[in-house]
Amino acid sequence: MALSTRWWPRSIQWQMLAGLLLLESLSIGLFAFLLVRQESRGIHQRVIRRVDYESQILAAQVSEALRKGEPGWVGLSVRMMGEGPTAASAKVTDPSGNMLFVSKGEADETVLELAERTQIPLITRNESRCFTFEDNRTECVHAIYTGDELRGLAWVEFNWATTQELIDAISRTTAIFGIIWMIASAILVLIMAHSIAQPLALLHRGARALMNSPEDTQQFPLPVKVHNEIGDLIETFNSMVASLAEQRSGLNDTLSLLDSMLANAPIGLAFVDRNCRIVRVNQIFADLTGLLIEQQLGRSLPEILPQPGAQNLENAVLRVLASEEPIRNLELSGQGGKLTRHWTWLISVYPVKTTPRNVRWAGIIVLDASERKRGEEALRRSEKLAVTGRLAASIAHEINNPLEAITNLLFLLRNFSSLDESALHYVKMAEYEVRRIAEITQQTLRFYRQSTLPARATLTDLLDSVLSLYQGRLHALDLRVERRYNPRLDLFCFAGEIRQVVANLVGNSLDATQPGGRLLVRARPSRDWKDTERTGVRFVVADTGVGMTSVVRDRIFEAFFTTKEDTGTGLGLWVSHEIILKHQGIIRVRSRVETASLFAPGPPSGTVIQFFIPDNPNLADEQASA
Ligand SMILES: Nc1ncnc2c1ncn2[C@@H]1O[C@H](COP(=O)(O)OP(=O)(O)OP(=O)(O)O)[C@@H](O)[C@H]1O
Ligand SMILES: [Mg+2]
Repeated sequence: MALSTRWWPRSIQWQMLAGLLLLESLSIGLFAFLLVRQESRGIHQRVIRRVDYESQILAAQVSEALRKGEPGWVGLSVRMMGEGPTAASAKVTDPSGNMLFVSKGEADETVLELAERTQIPLITRNESRCFTFEDNRTECVHAIYTGDELRGLAWVEFNWATTQELIDAISRTTAIFGIIWMIASAILVLIMAHSIAQPLALLHRGARALMNSPEDTQQFPLPVKVHNEIGDLIETFNSMVASLAEQRSGLNDTLSLLDSMLANAPIGLAFVDRNCRIVRVNQIFADLTGLLIEQQLGRSLPEILPQPGAQNLENAVLRVLASEEPIRNLELSGQGGKLTRHWTWLISVYPVKTTPRNVRWAGIIVLDASERKRGEEALRRSEKLAVTGRLAASIAHEINNPLEAITNLLFLLRNFSSLDESALHYVKMAEYEVRRIAEITQQTLRFYRQSTLPARATLTDLLDSVLSLYQGRLHALDLRVERRYNPRLDLFCFAGEIRQVVANLVGNSLDATQPGGRLLVRARPSRDWKDTERTGVRFVVADTGVGMTSVVRDRIFEAFFTTKEDTGTGLGLWVSHEIILKHQGIIRVRSRVETASLFAPGPPSGTVIQFFIPDNPNLADEQASA
């Protein structure tokens, strides 16, 4: 039974000492008590026998003195007997109890006390008699005979003080012995307990240190100073720590492997518990959901993903947890929530078992298929565009021949002398419209025909063809278009591609500009901004549109980056950038979003995109070697 009282010491040393002292003081106390009691009884009996014997001697001496007729000796015998070590007093009385001789103390008494006198009838000739009175006095009495005549009684009183001294001496000796015994055994116990407690304390400190910082095993192995069971225990503990350290290092390696996998795998990974709450996610998953990792932990799927995707995913997880079978390549898509874009995810869910029968978590692997989807979409669109372009080109080509005939016929008609004024006017109008049709077919054909080799291109034609492509939208938006380019300006380039770049830039400007805004298209000879040795042409497309924030501006050259969710593919500037790099050119973007305050309108928003294309006649060779 463990003693848990407050006063009970807490160290093994003091517990053993306290236990020993308790036990020893009880056993020594009991032993001393029994010993002293036994001894005092023995002493008592011996002393009483002696007093008894002394009363016989006194009776014999008095009887002898009386027989010799020497009564004076009686007084001497009484006195000598009374002063002996075992007798407290002695006296001689007549048979009736009248006092004849007294050793001391009772000299003034002439007769025995009543208690003594009542004993007289019980006294026989040859036997002495001892009795104890109420006041604890013990006396032995013997009859004094001379011949057959009872002459008196010899009384000797027992000396308690002598007995007590003997008993005290025994008690003292026992106590001293007991104390010495207890001190000696306490010292022995302290030494022994120390030899147990000290290694145990060492073990305790070691275990605690290990608990507080399991990685720090510098103080191990613990020194083994004793060679007994405790020494064995410390050795076992040391080997346990060593094997734990080994296991931990193996575990750490595995954990680092898993952590690095989780952190660097190019897929989103998440683990949910049986309540569909997130227990762990990697950075890619966090990026996909648009929330920080710590914002997701402990939350349910509908709390971090928009519906209905979240519900579908949760259902899949519940199915996996119930059936313990994985689900692969589940396509989820959605929009909204923290995710600003339309997303498509390819998801696999699998059970995570801690034992063969216990599914503790479900693992979710997410592959972001949004870009692939958008890519496929863009490809479909560009395929459609290409087909439409080819169709338009062939129609334009076919229209060209009859158009030429109509133009010739109109020319002949105009020179007819019989035509009156208004008929001539109509012919001119028809000629004008036919010229417009011819121009449109020419543009369409020129736009489609992509030269496979670079050539010197007239930039006026190139830029005009782009603007006339957007003629309809420019009209609809009522934009003021400023064309600033020299009619004789030319450039050695892949004209079709440069046209595509300008078309993309103008298209973006039209998307961004409000009705009534301005569009500037400029091209002029220039030098490279960085390497002034290089000459070429600098193109500028500027608008007074909505402008871009710095966040958007930083990402515009990324493939598939778009803010036009429904209409944009996010490929325009990416392709343009590639084309400019192919021509060893540079592109620069400046854009501003108006920050108007209540009292003052801010600087107007707008975007200026300029790019430089070097005039490089060796472009074809360089391209070929590249
Ligand atoms: N002139 C501009 N004014 C404001 N924003 C612009 C301008 N030009 C480009 N941007 C921004 O850059 C983004 C990327 O443009 P990009 O041309 O690459 O793709 P897109 O126009 O969205 O789609 P598309 O593939 O159909 O061209 C646009 O979504 C738009 O947010
Ligand atoms: Mg665009």
